[in-house]
Amino acid sequence: MARILFLLALALLTGCLANGQATEPTYNYDETKVGTYTLPNPLINNKGKAVKTQAEWRSRRKELIQLFAENVYGQTPKQAVKLRFQTTSVDSSALNGLAIRKLVSIFFVDYPQLLPIEVLLYLPKGRKVIPVFLGLNFCGNHCVTTEADIPLSTRWMGNAIGEVSVNNKATEKARGMQERRWPIETILRRGYALATAYYGDIEPDYPQGWHSGIRSVLGESTAPASDTTKANSWGAIGAWAWGMSRILDYLQTEPSIDAKRVISIGHSRIGKAAVWAGAQDERFAAVIGNESGEGGAALARRWYGETVERINTSFPYWFCGRYKTYNKRVADLPVDQHELLALIAPRPLYIASADGDQWSDPKGEFLGAAYAEPVYKLYGKVGLGTTDGRPQAFPAVNQPIGQTVRYHDRSGKHDVTDYDWEQYLRFADELVR
Ligand code: GCU
Repeated sequence: MARILFLLALALLTGCLANGQATEPTYNYDETKVGTYTLPNPLINNKGKAVKTQAEWRSRRKELIQLFAENVYGQTPKQAVKLRFQTTSVDSSALNGLAIRKLVSIFFVDYPQLLPIEVLLYLPKGRKVIPVFLGLNFCGNHCVTTEADIPLSTRWMGNAIGEVSVNNKATEKARGMQERRWPIETILRRGYALATAYYGDIEPDYPQGWHSGIRSVLGESTAPASDTTKANSWGAIGAWAWGMSRILDYLQTEPSIDAKRVISIGHSRIGKAAVWAGAQDERFAAVIGNESGEGGAALARRWYGETVERINTSFPYWFCGRYKTYNKRVADLPVDQHELLALIAPRPLYIASADGDQWSDPKGEFLGAAYAEPVYKLYGKVGLGTTDGRPQAFPAVNQPIGQTVRYHDRSGKHDVTDYDWEQYLRFADELVR
């Protein structure tokens, strides 16, 4: 009997620990347990004064970026970094003649110890001044297409991806592995270019990854963000967002690109980075956060799906040290994610969820987008739109809603599908061109 009880206790304990929980669940899928919460008002400044004009919002905007830097993502280094862009290959008849394909290395001149960011750029042939989707990829440029002459990335890759990487290096099996998520031909036929790079070129995604990434040389501190003594040194999400801006620096030098129409796009953890990049860097003309979830579009105060405590436990190096101090007191965070989304205003914003991805909290992402409304209104724009001054009802699956801010909850799992891209292309056609 004692043995059975012991085994039962052990099973319960290890079960809990396997979920990353010590004493209580750090995630929640029960809507009745969400509780009540009060969101901070983006239009009340740090001194408690109401923000009524666009000019006042410009100052409030700076305050909010600073609050996100100090409490969530860490400080993005402000100093300019000398870059050198080197085109390593041009194929003027890629994808069976549909595209011009360029491979460009972005070198960090003052940090020769860092390897470059390798950018893959597809331009639709026969067009000039082309708007572009810029999004980082999860597994190397060789993953987004089956074009066999794209060099296999030599950088660190997560082994969790399976046989496609061995000993943390990509194998030939990885070629085209995420092709489905990047409908390049459709994007090009619709008149857009696509720029992508492996997010691990900026920082490999594991706790010690910063040693070989940009955070090893740049930032308030070279300590990992999990070091709470350096409370607001930047985390990996900050680094990936910074990297997106460096790719934008390069795109600004590319004559056929319309640098005023660069759309920041990202999925999941890269979606968090795409939104933080677009919030800080107003050169991004529009932003798309696909299932960006906790630390992305989802409200932190809504206790549903992944939570602040959970993400800080699983991925401490993504955020700044101080973020961890809110694990058990999310209500004390001086910001919430609707204010991150409000930083995109008045630019077009698309937030998307999937009903099979409750981890990202679709409703929390929807509300994040909905509560950005007052800032869009300040610019005379309708964001997601309201009913009697309140957020409209959460839409049914596969029913995109909104105007300058758009939202959909796709049916299906955590992913990027043709359905998602179809909405993004339509959004770009209507609001970015
Ligand atoms: C984990 C993590 C999420 C993240 C996701 C992803 O599930 O908890 O926050 O968005 O990975 O990047 O796929």
